[in-house]
Formats: sequence, C-alpha cells, structure tokens
Amino acid sequence: MGAMTDMEKDFTEIMARDQALVEDYLAQAFASQTRHANLQEAMEYSLLSGGKRIRPVLTLETCRLCGGDAEAALPFACAVEMIHTYSLIHDDLPAMDDDDLRRGLSTNHVVYGEATAILAGDALLTAAFEQLTRANLPAERIVEAVQCLSQAAGSAGMVGGQALDMAGEGRALEREELELLQSLKTGALISAAAELGCIAAGGSREQRNQVRSYAQNLGRAFQIRDDMLDVTSSEEELGKPVGSDQVNEKSTFVTALGLAGCATLVEQLTRRGVDALSAFENPGFHIWLAESLATRTK
Ligand code: IPE
Ligand code: IPE
Ligand code: MG
Ligand code: MG
Ligand code: MG
Repeated sequence: MGAMTDMEKDFTEIMARDQALVEDYLAQAFASQTRHANLQEAMEYSLLSGGKRIRPVLTLETCRLCGGDAEAALPFACAVEMIHTYSLIHDDLPAMDDDDLRRGLSTNHVVYGEATAILAGDALLTAAFEQLTRANLPAERIVEAVQCLSQAAGSAGMVGGQALDMAGEGRALEREELELLQSLKTGALISAAAELGCIAAGGSREQRNQVRSYAQNLGRAFQIRDDMLDVTSSEEELGKPVGSDQVNEKSTFVTALGLAGCATLVEQLTRRGVDALSAFENPGFHIWLAESLATRTK
C-alpha cells in the first residue's frame, strides 16, 4: 500500500474519532440495567466485540454532511448498530448460517446457548427503538427516525432479505432475485443508517433522496465485497469463517458473475453512489469511505 495522503489521514482520524464515540456510548447503554441471568452479558458480548462500526459512523457523518451536529445523532447511530448486532447474532444461529466465529470470537450461541442468543438478539432489537427516543432532537425527527428504521429493519427490509436468503439456499437465483435479496438484507439497514443522519440534521427531502441513493449503492457494493471475501479471504483476517456461503449453498454474486465480474460491479456501484452526492459541498469523507469499502480486506 502507498503512503497515506494528508486527506486520507484526516478521514482515517474522523473515522477513529467517530468509532470511539460509538464505543463509549454502546459501553454504557446497558451498564445501569438490572441484570437478568446472563442476558445482558450476552448482549454486551456481541455489541462490544469490535466490528467496523460502518453503519453508526455513516449516521454521524451524514448528519454532519446535511448540516447537523454529528453528536446529536449518536443515539440514532447506536440504534442502528444494535440492530446490526442482533442481525448478526441471529444470522449465525444453527437454524440460519450456522457459523461459530464472529468478529474473531466464538459466536453468541456457542458461548451462551441458542435460547440466550435468540433473546439477546430480541433485546438488542427492542433496545434500538428505545435509543431513538433518547436523542435530544425535536419529536417530529424522532418519529421520522422510528418510521425509517422500522421499515428498514423489518419484513420489508433486512428481515425480508434474510427470509429470501434462507429460501434461496440450494437454488441458483436469477440476477434480479439476488439484487433484491441483497438490497434488502444489507442495503436497507445501511441506507437507514445514512438517512437517520439526514433526519437528525433536519435535512431536506432532496438531501434525504441523495443520501439514500449513495447508501443503497454503497450497501449493494458492500454485500458483493462480503461475498467475495467469503471466497478469497481467511478466517484470521475476517474474524468469521470463510467458505460459509458455499457450505450453505447460497447464491451470491461470486457464483453469478465470478470474482472479476464482482470487482467490476463493486466499482460501478461505488461510482454511482459517489455521483449521487455531487450536490453536497463537502462529501469528501463519504467518497473516501465508499472507495475504502470497495477494496476492503475485512
Ligand atoms: C457483516 O457486516 C454482515 C453484512 C451485512 C455483510 P459488517 O462487515 O459490517 O460486520 P462488522 O460489524 O464489521 O462485524
Ligand atoms: C448477512 O449476510 C446479512 C445480515 C443481515 C446479517 P451474510 O450472512 O453474508 O453475513 P456474514 O457473512 O455472515 O457476516
Ligand atoms: Mg446470512
Ligand atoms: Mg452469515
Ligand atoms: Mg457473508
């Protein structure tokens, strides 16, 4: 890798600062709760186990992009990360992808058992919506955030995509089916992450549409890159098993287009996403983020 330019260094610093805000917020989210059996321990085991924190960072920086104070969006950002974490706990269950490693650690159900892992996921999903209400923002923005996140996370969004993913096992999906599946299971929540930033900032309808277009393209590229890494990377690098998609007979963009075709498509989607932000004054971080994710190795 070449030397970092000053701009890249600035963006890396912004990313690190946002990640630290998110880590601190999440670390205290359940700290004062009465603890029941090992439920809260299981929730925090997955919530505080690292992860790239792409979604909450996107919320914070999109709030700034749309003219808001990024820290005001912190409860929204952490709500998205709670839903993401719950989706990973459930995605790894024996009834779904049946994986035993996540973020470099044994998966939740391996450590706490299936019942507690299911409940930890349920509780994180519920807690996310409580977090939305904690934002120090006008009530109408919070209502809008609830609408946005519930649609993105539910049967018309992420959970719907996971249902298509499970129903598609063992069958070669058509390109359009695969696009829909991935837009729902991954794109919807990434889009909501960005849109929540715009909502927190009180952004305009146009800004919301542009941000959505950026994030939907980013989300699609992100899942295709994830499919590629499942084939090309290693367990040590990724912190999760490789070859899981093949074992589960999933259709992915790798099975549909091959690795070279995937790389081209990731580039196209990234370009399309970046182009959607052309009306913004300062989209530098978002451009850097999209380009970094397109070539990420974990
Ligand atoms: C993994 O998401 C699941 C997908 C949607 C591909 P991330 O790659 O963002 O996982 P973490 O949060 O960094 O562990
Ligand atoms: C999962 O996609 C997306 C979710 C909504 C959790 P994958 O099943 O490909 O995610 P990984 O590879 O296990 O992280
Ligand atoms: Mg899965
Ligand atoms: Mg999986
Ligand atoms: Mg995967």
